[in-house]
Amino acid sequence: MAGRLRRVYDWFDSRLDLVTESEYLGKAFPAEDSFLLGEVALFCFLVLVLTGMFLGFFFEPSTSDVEYDGSVDRYQGEQLPEAFVSVLNITYEVPYGMFLRRLHHWAAHLFVASLSLHMLRVFFQGAYANPREPNWVIGGTLAISSMFAAYTGYALPYDEFASTATGIGYSIAQSVPVVGEIASQVVFGGEYPSSATLPRFYFIHVFLLPVVIAGLIAVHMAILVRQKHTEAPREADVTTGRKPVDRTDDRVVIGLPAFPNQAAISAIVFFITLGALSLLAGFLPVHNVAEYGPNDPASTPALIMPDWFLMWVFGFLKLMPSWLSFTVPGTDIHVSTEFLSGVVLPGIVFGLLFAWPFIDRYDDQRHFTMDPLARPWQTAVGVTGVVFIMIASIAGMNTIVADITGLSTGTINPILLGALIVGPLVAGAITYVSLVRYDAEDPTDEGRKPMATDGDGRPADGGQPGGDRPADDRPLDGDADDRSGAPPGGDADE
Ligand code: HEM
Repeated sequence: MAGRLRRVYDWFDSRLDLVTESEYLGKAFPAEDSFLLGEVALFCFLVLVLTGMFLGFFFEPSTSDVEYDGSVDRYQGEQLPEAFVSVLNITYEVPYGMFLRRLHHWAAHLFVASLSLHMLRVFFQGAYANPREPNWVIGGTLAISSMFAAYTGYALPYDEFASTATGIGYSIAQSVPVVGEIASQVVFGGEYPSSATLPRFYFIHVFLLPVVIAGLIAVHMAILVRQKHTEAPREADVTTGRKPVDRTDDRVVIGLPAFPNQAAISAIVFFITLGALSLLAGFLPVHNVAEYGPNDPASTPALIMPDWFLMWVFGFLKLMPSWLSFTVPGTDIHVSTEFLSGVVLPGIVFGLLFAWPFIDRYDDQRHFTMDPLARPWQTAVGVTGVVFIMIASIAGMNTIVADITGLSTGTINPILLGALIVGPLVAGAITYVSLVRYDAEDPTDEGRKPMATDGDGRPADGGQPGGDRPADDRPLDGDADDRSGAPPGGDADE
């Protein structure tokens, strides 16, 4: 048996050069718990693709009416849009359909949540610094693509809620001066809701965006493998399998071997992610299409709100004062509040996100993560941004805030607008002053030391005996000796 396996291995090895590939299996992977957030995002994407394929077998992207014949009594015998009927069927007739639909839904939420937290960890630890700016920009593009993927998914059931949310997107697209009309025709297939919208959104949701996201993730990972991970600052010199590594030498990366150690950790993270999603899908219902009912152009549901990750854009729409709209003098180009809040403001937010590594620029390469407490202005900017998005999201729920406070939305909105302008600046200023004072008071504060451990008090090597730890020479270091020495990853499997 072993001989046969060996022959199969040799057959592939002679064609694919597996020996070279196996060098990658020994690559050093820094043991940091927060580095696993990116992996959670990756696994959620996998679950999204698999559950999406299942849903795709039964979903019908058509608005033509068909007679409903299923187990929801209130629609029995009614003529309903085929898309709506197919989602009812997935939910109530198809075996495991309700569970897999919920799994798809919760995976989408966890996907966006984990990628957002992953982005914040990269931001606050300065892991976007030279040479990782390209991966930051690709990550930002992933964030935008993921939001569009979620948005187009919501339109598909063609229920009352979905069509209202899609309608808001349609009027934002239309509001873009000059190109808005044609762009909304192309994407939405004409005046919304039209029978052409659904097939287009279906194509964008199940093919275009998943392919874009998968491609971007592949490039994201390829860059990561090429540049290698950042690493927490070391507390002491490290003895690796082949050579001692100075604690300050960032040309060499220290960590667990990718295989089997890191692979085992990743497998655990995968099953925990799948387990958590299964529990959510088993116990928490999602978007109840039977409750909302099929799309009815004549009515609007009482409470319309997008998902939490699009709530900040909705907040801009709610708060933008109407007097800010204007017509460009001498033309018929109208700049509407919808355009300002739905396109310009989110554009500025993402523009700043993309520009950030070039604002906080580093001429020399950084391979150690940075301590957020030792970076007052960068951390203050991060806190300002987070508070801004949080207040904008609260503004998106202004009707709920009005209900809770007993005030009208007319009274609440100016207060929320004031909070949106002042709140983030105050939070940023407090952060900055506290960190500068913290630095001045105790420059050698031991509180920063945990940055050099994996967060559980284990040493930064993840508890591996020093001699077992692999060390990779970074391919991008400026040191000619190291570069001309062992091949990349060559030290790792010693
Ligand atoms: C689909 C979404 C994403 C997936 C699946 C993903 C996946 C990953 C994984 C698995 C890693 C290595 C482990 C870790 O550092 O967590 C990583 C690293 C990185 N990601 Fe992402 N990521 C995504 C989105 C983003 C976003 C939105 C940004 C920032 C805008 C970003 C920026 C980076 C950077 C700069 C690194 C290198 C960090 C380092 O070496 O410490 N990623 N990503």
